[in-house]
Amino acid sequence: MESLLESPRFPVGVVNQAAAKEKQGGGRPEFWEMVFWWTRKPLASARAVLAAAALPSDASMNTFVSQVLRARVNMRGEVENVPHRENPNPPPEWRERFAKMKVLDPFAGFGSIPLEAIRLGFGEVVAVELLPTAYVFLKAVLEYPKWAVEKGLGQQLVKDVERWGRWVAEQLAQDPDIKELYDPDVAVYIGTWEVKCPHCGKYTPLIGNWWLARVSKTSVEEESEEEGEEGARSGFFSRLTWMDWDNGSVKVVDLNRELNAKLIKAKVNARQGYVEVGGRKFNVRRPNIDARRETATCLHCGNQIRYYLPKLNRHSIEKPKGAEAVWYVKHALREWNRLLEEYLSGRIELEKLLESPARPTLLVKVKVKEGDLEFEPATKQDTEKLWKALEELRKIWGDPDIPTEHLPPYGSRGMGGDLKTIIWGLDKWYKHFNPRQLLTLVKLVKLVREAGKRVEEEKLREGWSKEDAFKYAEAITAYLAMTLMKHVDYNTIVTLWNPGSWSWNKVAHTLSMRGIAMQWNWCEIAPISDLPLTYMGILGNTQDGLSYLIFAASNSLSGVKVILDDATLLSSISSEKFDLVVTDPPYRDDVPYVELSDFFYVWLKRALSDASNSGLAPRFAVEAFFKRVGMTYRELRTQWEELAPKEVGLNVGRLSYFSGRGVSEEETRRYFIELLHRSFLSMRRLLKDDGLLVTYYAHTDPEAWEELISAGWRAGFRVTAAFPVATEFALRVTGRGKAALDTSIVVVWRPGVKGEALWDQVYREALAAAEDRALELLRAGRSGVDLFVGTLAATLSAVTSKEKIVGVDDVGAFVRERAYPAAARGLARAISRYVGGGEAGEEVRDAGALFYMLAKILLPPNKRVGRRVMDRSSVHIIGFGTGLDDRELVRLGIVEKKDSDFHLLEPRGGGRDDLVELLRERGLDPAKPQLRCAVDAQHLLEYYAVTLDAKSFGEQYAKLRSLNAVLVDEALRLARVLSGRLLPLGDPEKVLCERVISYAVGSGTLEGWLRGG
Ligand SMILES: C[S@@+](CC[C@H](N)C(=O)[O-])C[C@H]1O[C@@H](n2cnc3c(N)ncnc32)[C@H](O)[C@@H]1O
Ligand SMILES: [Zn+2]
Repeated sequence: MESLLESPRFPVGVVNQAAAKEKQGGGRPEFWEMVFWWTRKPLASARAVLAAAALPSDASMNTFVSQVLRARVNMRGEVENVPHRENPNPPPEWRERFAKMKVLDPFAGFGSIPLEAIRLGFGEVVAVELLPTAYVFLKAVLEYPKWAVEKGLGQQLVKDVERWGRWVAEQLAQDPDIKELYDPDVAVYIGTWEVKCPHCGKYTPLIGNWWLARVSKTSVEEESEEEGEEGARSGFFSRLTWMDWDNGSVKVVDLNRELNAKLIKAKVNARQGYVEVGGRKFNVRRPNIDARRETATCLHCGNQIRYYLPKLNRHSIEKPKGAEAVWYVKHALREWNRLLEEYLSGRIELEKLLESPARPTLLVKVKVKEGDLEFEPATKQDTEKLWKALEELRKIWGDPDIPTEHLPPYGSRGMGGDLKTIIWGLDKWYKHFNPRQLLTLVKLVKLVREAGKRVEEEKLREGWSKEDAFKYAEAITAYLAMTLMKHVDYNTIVTLWNPGSWSWNKVAHTLSMRGIAMQWNWCEIAPISDLPLTYMGILGNTQDGLSYLIFAASNSLSGVKVILDDATLLSSISSEKFDLVVTDPPYRDDVPYVELSDFFYVWLKRALSDASNSGLAPRFAVEAFFKRVGMTYRELRTQWEELAPKEVGLNVGRLSYFSGRGVSEEETRRYFIELLHRSFLSMRRLLKDDGLLVTYYAHTDPEAWEELISAGWRAGFRVTAAFPVATEFALRVTGRGKAALDTSIVVVWRPGVKGEALWDQVYREALAAAEDRALELLRAGRSGVDLFVGTLAATLSAVTSKEKIVGVDDVGAFVRERAYPAAARGLARAISRYVGGGEAGEEVRDAGALFYMLAKILLPPNKRVGRRVMDRSSVHIIGFGTGLDDRELVRLGIVEKKDSDFHLLEPRGGGRDDLVELLRERGLDPAKPQLRCAVDAQHLLEYYAVTLDAKSFGEQYAKLRSLNAVLVDEALRLARVLSGRLLPLGDPEKVLCERVISYAVGSGTLEGWLRGG
């Protein structure tokens, strides 16, 4: 029986709106603030997908939207509330239905999907993760709250987390080292690296940003958007403060104080580095380091710092040919990192270390006074406290709580974030902290561990059972550890001070760019200040997050299991069968999870384990951190060493390292497809024959689609439906005003492929299916990407329903060369029929016209540009469907390449000038027309229609037809579609096309002549 999820009735639009609410301002689920994780899916869409997969296609839409999704939709069809904030409240029959079903998510991540499965009350919910870090986070999101609710301990757990979190913060504040190392009134220290100038021998700081505060009165988003593009910004600023270099040291220029003004009317150009106020101009320095160009400038002598020649041990401005050379700054930082370990392990003295060609230094102290930030230059004494911390660290060197684990030697590259710090010599995790940060974090991890011990003892004293006391202590320790993880994220030498941010909290966390990269200007949060980012400050986030989770679990009768396992094997689940598998596998090379999340792992492991002189020992979540070997346990040093080759991901560096040889992109891709395929095989094994598999997938990059479809199909699944859902990523992209087809796509699969067919028969079936589905979707009001993906799903469904297609051995190529064109053509036919152009004969066929039509109908125009702006993959997807690649499209003048995007060459307005401009851009001369494709004829006709009367139009029209009647007729068909209801109302081409048609239809007839004359 068809499910609601597979039916065109499924309310994609409402679901996407509901999901988008989660990304706006206060809409984020509180438990996401507990700690960072990559690619979390919106709860609303997870909930909708799960419920619709379990419901029949005729389920009441009203009940679905209001009681399950909990969306309040107004008269205009807009979602007014933030639906995830409410628990679902399905009617009893639906509740019963859910309760009988078992759900599995083998790539559970931070748990959006299983959490919503719990809220819906599915009988059993199983979440699987490969990575220990995610596994512990999943327990904190799914297992502990559920357990606490069942034991009636929900509220108590929240209170106790607060109580013990406070205890940790208070203990830290009373620590004599901490008291000595931090000034009580400093909230944040801003620091950076300084290097010994190879010219003058003095240490010069490397300052990536001289700004301390540049807060405009208008919204923060606007500021960061505009700034990059134009540089200058005029208006009111509530804060303008920067650093300057004066006589060999940093000074602070606080314009608000200098002008004694709360609001400053100014013109600020951050790129060129000036501020203009009432005719006075202030200069703000430009960074004296540019890592991309490998240059730096000494602030003392003004000389360029370029290359270090290791063989000669000297500096050179020119990069010598042939000789070994490395950027001096890189060399200097590597030296520091090498000497640091020599010092800590007692092999050299402090003086020697401090003679290193690079060392960390403090620039500015940030204080909070009377509700505002105050900046002061850091002194020599301030920086010396870092060395004091170093001495303390040397005393405890060898303590198992110092994370000395290695980063992967291959670094790691991903689209969504690289791990690059190793090239600067930050080869071990502890080197990502300044000495004082490190010392503080080591103390914190010990306190968290100690708190866990005390909780357990307290509960045993109160007479709890051993199991309950242990579990309760485990839960509390996990939440305290997560609080620590977030604090760590904000407290490294790879954080960033963000002067444009509105709030006090101008610290951009380590993972804010998703990967970890070197920064010039980093922040250190004084642990005992009252800023939001101290341990105490973050505790509030933890509590709010936990309260949310307790609330989410409060009405659920689900059974919950969190399992540490490999999705390609799922060997820990053997006999159970599931009704639904809903999951979100990693997207190719998007995020190198294994390597990046070691950043958390090394601390999490310590917080949840015991420590003795000889090292760490098992305590909580033992399976995450230790491997049992006979009677003893072996500590798992890092995730990457243990698990990297098992991660479903596309990573050349990783695979090369583990295969011990250079591996090509193509080989890596095959490896990835194989892993993905194996995970489909295990999902098939665990899914009931009448069960449903639902996969999220981010890329609509054609290659990614081919990989997904081939991996699933070969495991015996056929596609039954697909549609795009809003995700974090998509919103970020469209936020920049770019139309992208690469939102996440939800693909619905069923087991059961059978029979064989010849490929041309399959193609014909796919085409027919596409046309039918497209028409159905058009009638259901679908448009844009929804429409395209929904249509594509019908073709994929036809393709994947056969076990074998005779004459096809490369599934990927078949999808590319047959399924896409079938979808585009079927869609075009459906559009022609829908618009009322008539039956098959009226269909637009010319490749250029087809591309133009689909781009216009599927994508919204970009407001700023006044045209459709497409990213490469959107061009590819539509292009594949029409048989045109981007080069051909550029050659035909249909699109224009601008940076990495493509602009559709379409009229910006309906006036004469707009068309003159367009023809010029497209290289068309209306006096001497030449036709490359139907789009040329179309634009010429539009030009004639706005510049000529009907009679003269008729003459030009006839002339054009004598040139190429086929293309002109095709242009008219295109005009008919574009004048119809599928283009948005404001599109200027709609009116232009109406005019063209009325003139053209009339031309040559008496009626037309009369009308025009
Ligand atoms: C796209 S994320 C899932 C995000 C999740 N849906 C959420 O909302 O938070 C994919 C997850 O798959 C995990 N993963 C990668 N390879 C795996 C494997 N072989 N077995 C299980 N999980 C794996 C990654 O660690 C990552 O957390
Ligand atoms: Zn110098």
